[in-house]
Amino acid sequence: MQEQSPGEHSVCSQDDIPEVRRTLSLISDPGDWWRSAVIYQVYIRSFCDGNGDGLGDIAGIRSRLSYLCELGVDALWINPWYPSPMADAGYDVTDYRDVEPRFGTLDEAEALLGEAHALGLRVILDIVPNHTSDQHPWFRAAVAAGHGSPERERYVFRPGRGEDGSEPPNGWRSVFGGTAWHRITESDGSLGEWYLHLFAREQPDLNWEHPDVRADFEHSLRFWFDRGVDGFRIDVANSLIKQSGLPDVEWPQASVEFDQEFARAPWQAHPHWDRDEVHEIYRDWRRIADSYADPRVFVAEAWVDEPARLARYIRPDELHTAFNFTYLRSPWLADHLQNTVAETLAEHSAVGAPPTWVLSNHDVARHVSRYARPQKKPGRSLMDLLGQPADLEVGRRRARAAVLLTLGLPGGAYIYQGEELGLAEVEDLPEGALRDPTWERSGQTDRGRDGCRVPIPWSGTDPPYGFSPDGSKAAPWLPQPADWAGLTAEAQTGDPLSMLELYREALRIRRADSSLGDGDLAWLDLPEGALGFQRGADFVCLVNVSADPIDLPDAAVVLLSSTELTADGRLPADASVWCSV
Ligand code: NOJ
Repeated sequence: MQEQSPGEHSVCSQDDIPEVRRTLSLISDPGDWWRSAVIYQVYIRSFCDGNGDGLGDIAGIRSRLSYLCELGVDALWINPWYPSPMADAGYDVTDYRDVEPRFGTLDEAEALLGEAHALGLRVILDIVPNHTSDQHPWFRAAVAAGHGSPERERYVFRPGRGEDGSEPPNGWRSVFGGTAWHRITESDGSLGEWYLHLFAREQPDLNWEHPDVRADFEHSLRFWFDRGVDGFRIDVANSLIKQSGLPDVEWPQASVEFDQEFARAPWQAHPHWDRDEVHEIYRDWRRIADSYADPRVFVAEAWVDEPARLARYIRPDELHTAFNFTYLRSPWLADHLQNTVAETLAEHSAVGAPPTWVLSNHDVARHVSRYARPQKKPGRSLMDLLGQPADLEVGRRRARAAVLLTLGLPGGAYIYQGEELGLAEVEDLPEGALRDPTWERSGQTDRGRDGCRVPIPWSGTDPPYGFSPDGSKAAPWLPQPADWAGLTAEAQTGDPLSMLELYREALRIRRADSSLGDGDLAWLDLPEGALGFQRGADFVCLVNVSADPIDLPDAAVVLLSSTELTADGRLPADASVWCSV
């Protein structure tokens, strides 16, 4: 690995910034950077461990800024780094205005921001407004203060149903399985009220009708914006508001298939997903973001299926962008992909917002493994995949093709750490190693999301593959596979056929070509099983999903292809190409 003791960081200097990045940063409108940005998701626990405790941290991120700079991304989104008991990997926050000691300190966070900015990298944090940790001072005070107290008003406490209140207040389900309610023991030892938790029991939902809640989150946004943070990813942005009276959901929702999924129910009647009232909160947040000289930005995590509903979050006076999970969920089928792209473009252009394109993140099975399966039915979790035959070579080949599609489309894109290394889902983590609350809440039937969270292999031939400094006593918090030596960043660097060099080259071309990023496309007429489009005067992207080899346009000059063309210069199946025409 690149060995550094904590505090020693191999940050690249201004001289290391690729020429094209420096030129573009001089000419592009900084206020609009997010419309075309390629944003790298740093899942902090698994990115790089700077202090040798087996858990990724801020020191680790700082030591790898040069890598991100060379990769050619515009920004980092860092998953929650706030103090947290880690019942849900940091999505259970006890203090929104500080840093978890296992990840570092506020001073280190500020140093990271300064170093990233000096390299032309923006930094986006992750805010978690739907719920706090059950160890948050507000929740502890609420439990202690008792029934009817003002402290309880900040959360969603209700008496139970039934004579003795032993039934949950309604039938709402937790995303992680089971009821969404937990009954507390009051301070006198008696069984008391229930509180709502749409996620784990340790994540009580906040009451967004309460002025303290609204004021406190605005305070937190300003706290980080004042320190130079460029924006926020908003966790479950489509929750927050619950219908008054908390009515039951009026359609069957108890099946495992449904309640293991994020929000996907029809919006119009749902009592806790995608309520119209949530938009008012984001209009207030937008005013805060716009009050900064270099305006700050938001990206919504909102699992709403209909692109038209998603577009409501990114109207001009609301959030800037939203993750496009419809694209992530699309199987590797040409008509699905093209319809998803076309619908997304239409809905986004109606509100003037740029789309984002996402293939993977820390909540879904890695796309190499999804694409390795038969593509009949969209699925995104490991449990959707298990039991289906897998061919990882095919998965990687498709993943290579998919990234050229993704980075060629209009708008911005997200790269989930490790996808640039071609990592597959780790499907066989020992049960004893699983940390995702889904595992326990599902009665140990759903293996959850740990398989996409395994620490990144940087260098060397054996675990921890440079994830932790040499000589560290602690093993990585999740075990890494024994066969990752060929997938390390070190092993792939300089190998023109590697996934890493494909990403680097694609990002280099994207930066240099002003017809890429924000803008529009013109579809090309191609045989069934293939899709393709032109951007600007001369950029063409062709994707052959499943057709016989297809011709390149006349006189096309190949800029980059995901795999070798056929001997007669055509594009085979499971492959894509960028060319200049
Ligand atoms: C979405 C996050 O991405 C996920 O990791 C988390 O478990 C839930 N929100 C709850 O905060």
